[in-house]
Amino acid sequence: MKSGTSVPHLAAASAPPHRLQQLLSEAEIQKRVSELAQQLTKDYAGSDPVIVCILKGSFVFAGDLIRQLDFPLSIEFMRVSSYGKAIVTSGEVKLELDLANSVANRQVLLLEDVIDTGLTVDYLKANLRARSPSQVRVCTLLHKPANRIKAVPIDYAGFEIHNKFVVGYGLDYHGYYRNLPYIATLEEIVAKS
Ligand code: IMP
Ligand code: MG
Repeated sequence: MKSGTSVPHLAAASAPPHRLQQLLSEAEIQKRVSELAQQLTKDYAGSDPVIVCILKGSFVFAGDLIRQLDFPLSIEFMRVSSYGKAIVTSGEVKLELDLANSVANRQVLLLEDVIDTGLTVDYLKANLRARSPSQVRVCTLLHKPANRIKAVPIDYAGFEIHNKFVVGYGLDYHGYYRNLPYIATLEEIVAKS
């Protein structure tokens, strides 16, 4: 499907019908992920970092990215909730799943799906720093600078996007659409009566 293509999409019987407008195609995403992997492979040559994948949204990005990283690494997972069921940030971050192993004295690379207000990544960086890693860097697939509340330095970013809610490639709306291979903006279709 080409960028900009609009498709009504019924995710599941329980999800409201949405109109999806493709923002980033599968090919565009794959190309950028490969570029990020090449950059990371240069920057982490000779080191042995821990990649911290932030669930759930980053699992697709992490899966594609780490298979192209050519250096020794281990992977850990954290899950945080910041939005609950709302589409706008609550400003509160709750740690729901913690690391299984210590990151003390390790280089940490935090993998995020999207940085919006920056509140989640700010919380995660502070939380990880308290565990005495030798370094914490941030890599995000998407970045929405317009919504920034906390200015957290982003070491690696895939795409800068406008302030629109997006789904696909791991990103969800009420748990749906993570399986789309592309990224799309989402609008609810209001039924005419
Ligand atoms: P922040 O704390 O506002 O930076 O938000 C970060 C988190 O909010 C991300 O990890 C996502 O889980 C969620 N989020 C922000 N924008 C979007 C979006 O456009 N689509 C889906 N989830 C989003
Ligand atoms: Mg997330």
